[in-house]
Amino acid sequence: MVISIRPWIEIGTSEKQEASVDSVWRQPATEGVVLSADPYAVMGPTDGGKGASARSGGGEEISPERQAARAKSDYHLPVLMDEVLTALRPGSEKWIFDGTLGGGGHSEALLRAGASVIACDQDLEAIVYASARLAVFGERFSAVHANFGSIDRILSESGVGAVDGILLDLGVSSRHLDAAERGFSFQKDGPLDMRMNFTEGRSAADLVNEEDEAELARIFWEFGEERASRKIARAIVTAREKQPFTRTLELAGLIASVLPRGGAKHPATRVFQALRIAVNEELVRLNEALAKSIDCLKPGGALAVITFHSLEDRIVKQFMRRHSEKTIDRPEWPAPKPNPEYFFDLPGRKPIAPSVEEQKANPRARSAKLRVAVRV
Ligand SMILES: C[S@@+](CC[C@H](N)C(=O)[O-])C[C@H]1O[C@@H](n2cnc3c(N)ncnc32)[C@H](O)[C@@H]1O
Repeated sequence: MVISIRPWIEIGTSEKQEASVDSVWRQPATEGVVLSADPYAVMGPTDGGKGASARSGGGEEISPERQAARAKSDYHLPVLMDEVLTALRPGSEKWIFDGTLGGGGHSEALLRAGASVIACDQDLEAIVYASARLAVFGERFSAVHANFGSIDRILSESGVGAVDGILLDLGVSSRHLDAAERGFSFQKDGPLDMRMNFTEGRSAADLVNEEDEAELARIFWEFGEERASRKIARAIVTAREKQPFTRTLELAGLIASVLPRGGAKHPATRVFQALRIAVNEELVRLNEALAKSIDCLKPGGALAVITFHSLEDRIVKQFMRRHSEKTIDRPEWPAPKPNPEYFFDLPGRKPIAPSVEEQKANPRARSAKLRVAVRV
């Protein structure tokens, strides 16, 4: 197996720095995040699938099937697995790029179906965990610590070149939400961090403590569609004059104190989503990867993107539409013209949603949507 765990500290157009696996594991981690040579040490406790049935923290009954799936990967339960396999049609001789390795569930299924997989994740913890898990696949699997926005560079520098399929399963993993020390959860106390790539960049605390009121309101509105964006931004700026924010529950508590409680969602849901998107430049990176996918796919290769909220789904939908029209028309033209940006065919116009069974078994799958485009 080629575990080329290369932390590209400057991701994007700037210079990369490489390090050996050993030096990666010895890198000083962010406060509270412990990397270990034993990848399973990053996981929470598991019952190993021993019990006949169990209850989740919320009191909900967990079926033996779900327990087994959890025991297999406490890190993350992959969504829309069958649908992803149908879209990417893995097989021997095929190369698939998995831009969001996470716990390696999708990659594992692609490898089991015979494909070779080159994967990346911007979270070093995911790279370490999944690389160990998928080591059994030998040279058919390799993983790079990088942002999928650099897909072109990852594929050219690895020597793989254009691929037969690209998978982007966007957003955070269950591990991110479950691990308080990563700072993504408004229900668990932890450092206000939210960086998927904890080796660089500004944390959520940096944004909350340093951006001006207008910028905070913009972030909350644009990335969280939070109607009370200005009210919350004002409250943050007033509160941070006394004491800067450092913990997730401090921020969640402030938001709860200025918003009336009501509805099923925690009042901090939208602001936390907005901060996460801003901290990780999620929409910028998605746009980058989509644009580059055109040159990174072989003819007949499939692009499969799983989204979890309307902002990212809109970007994927518009990208696929724009590049799947064979002709374009303008009222001032005498006739339609061929679209010079026609690069994809769409097997279906509507996004694919998880089955009712999957939604029941995995509540985090409920908002998932899969869109597929095939390179012409
Ligand atoms: C939903 S999880 C993927 C789960 C994975 N498909 C599995 O089967 O376990 C998303 C993963 O993508 C990573 N990620 C999100 N945005 C990324 C980006 N722009 N570049 C690289 N990795 C990214 C996150 O760190 C996280 O580990």
